[in-house]
Amino acid sequence: MTALRRGLCIFLPLLFVSVNGQPADKPAGRNRVAAPNVISVDTNYKGKWELFSPDAGVSAMHLILLPTTNEALMFDATVWKISKLKLPGPPCRKVEDTPNEEDCFAHSILIDYETGNIRPLRLIYDTWCSSGALDVNGQLVSTGGYNNGSDTVRLLDICPDCGWKEYPGALANGRWYATQVTLADGRFMVFGGRAAPTYEFVPAEGQKNAKNQAVDFKFLVETHDPVENNLYPFIYLSTDGNLFVFANNRSILLDPNTNRIVHEFPVLPGGSRNYPASGCSCMLPITLQPDDKRFFIPAEIMVCGGAPHDAFTMSDLTRPKVFLPASKDCARIDISKRGKANWKIQTMPTARILGDALVLPTGDVLLINGAMSGSAGWDDARDPNLAPVLYRVVAGANHATKFVELAPTNIPRVYHSTSAVLPDGKILVAGSNTNPGYLDVALYPTETRVEKFSPHYLDPALDPFRTDILLDKSANKLIYGQRFEVQVRGGDPNIDMQKLQLNIYYPPFTTHGISMNQRMIRMGIYEVRKDAAAPDASVIAYQAPPNGNIAPPGYYMMFVVYNGVPCRRAMWVQLKN
Ligand SMILES: *[C@@H]1O[C@H](CO)[C@@H](O)[C@H](O)[C@H]1NC(C)=O
Ligand SMILES: *[C@@H]1O[C@H](CO)[C@@H](O)[C@H](O)[C@H]1NC(C)=O
Repeated sequence: MTALRRGLCIFLPLLFVSVNGQPADKPAGRNRVAAPNVISVDTNYKGKWELFSPDAGVSAMHLILLPTTNEALMFDATVWKISKLKLPGPPCRKVEDTPNEEDCFAHSILIDYETGNIRPLRLIYDTWCSSGALDVNGQLVSTGGYNNGSDTVRLLDICPDCGWKEYPGALANGRWYATQVTLADGRFMVFGGRAAPTYEFVPAEGQKNAKNQAVDFKFLVETHDPVENNLYPFIYLSTDGNLFVFANNRSILLDPNTNRIVHEFPVLPGGSRNYPASGCSCMLPITLQPDDKRFFIPAEIMVCGGAPHDAFTMSDLTRPKVFLPASKDCARIDISKRGKANWKIQTMPTARILGDALVLPTGDVLLINGAMSGSAGWDDARDPNLAPVLYRVVAGANHATKFVELAPTNIPRVYHSTSAVLPDGKILVAGSNTNPGYLDVALYPTETRVEKFSPHYLDPALDPFRTDILLDKSANKLIYGQRFEVQVRGGDPNIDMQKLQLNIYYPPFTTHGISMNQRMIRMGIYEVRKDAAAPDASVIAYQAPPNGNIAPPGYYMMFVVYNGVPCRRAMWVQLKN
């Protein structure tokens, strides 16, 4: 009720002065924003959970949205030869090494996130603990996995009856628990994996890497604990074209063109952050100005949660099992500052491992899923962390607390759980399987239920601030550095540029607490004006990101955010040269 009343109040234009938030810098000119605005309305709304699908058939160990359709791809592994969904008909999968055995279960589905319709996809080579990313045309390029899948490259295009195309033997090294990263020119590199302290470029469709195309990477040897703690390294393309690589508790900048480590950042103390100590991480929004003249565009990384170095030793290798408390740390570093950069450590309200750090349409971060003790691994975690935590990237006077605990779910999402930001701003939450197989009777049964979570900004009281993007009047093919327009209706009859953000979001490939290539760019806005032909609409003129180091080519979800409230539905835009 309080939230409702406040929401109604702030709708009255006269009361806009009471809107909470930190004021933006003064604009340099009438039509120019000197610094991005950070104003957002306050709401006490703690969010809402809904059961979206009672049974998706497959437990979503891996999750990614496919662009332009309403589909989310979910898959797990073939190794257990079982799921809750049968393939629609022959042929079944021939089981490796057992000539007469067949597996007729689906291990991969496309789920329509509006209707819940499910299309099973056939898969042969094992995708267990694999990696992936979307290419410039929105095709999924998936790498690695288990067994015969470990050196496989798979492609899944977007079309009504597209299926997987699988290319075993394409990678130089087998890659199980590896990280795939997109470079400025749209190529992919894949890093690490169990017993593979190397990296390589992902070969083009149908091609194979020679063994010597894997580059030795000593950093992954050095950061390897007796129980690993450096698998699924966190990797982000920095705004200067270098790759930020975080493994265990160390991080570097690697020049992908020369294979040289150009900088090493201070060690992050307090435990280990990568698999199986499985913390989570994200890159905070990259904020641009129109006609940006800055030499360095700041790029900040956040690493949250994780576990003591010996957490897996205690939970997996010790009897009786001991579940050590997970970390409550959330650490931030500006990697564009190099030598001047250091970690700033904050404390979350609750400890978290096996969770995701999702960048919300507003540029805030949502910490969701996971557990509060133990480690990754079968039956190795306890104390499910049921309540997502909102981290406000900019905390103003009335956001004194950066961390806000939101409404809890009642479905534990522990090991092998996933989540994704949807175009309507809700969060798709799926997976959780801490059992080798599909178990209904277990401490944490194998989850095929899919939920949606509505974060704080979906407070119904904030509806008056929600804009609608006018698709037919808005550019959806963007070229680096050029000026484009997007039209919106609603929000406010006179959109105030100081309360406006235009954010594009690269949909990540999420698995095991890592959201590969997750990235948000806050566009430089030139001006907001009225459209003579449609007086109730506002035209927002902005500049597309200047180059691929800022935003690799591909599909992004474009969110108009007004007063801290995202538009009703994001528009997919394609960015390229
Ligand atoms: C998978 O690898 C095994 C050897 O580990 C081999 O015998 C088998 O034929 C392979 N299966 C396929 C489908 O390639
Ligand atoms: C970083 O991790 C290593 C184990 O890989 C550990 O020996 C070292 O003490 C850690 N450093 C800090 C500062 O925590």
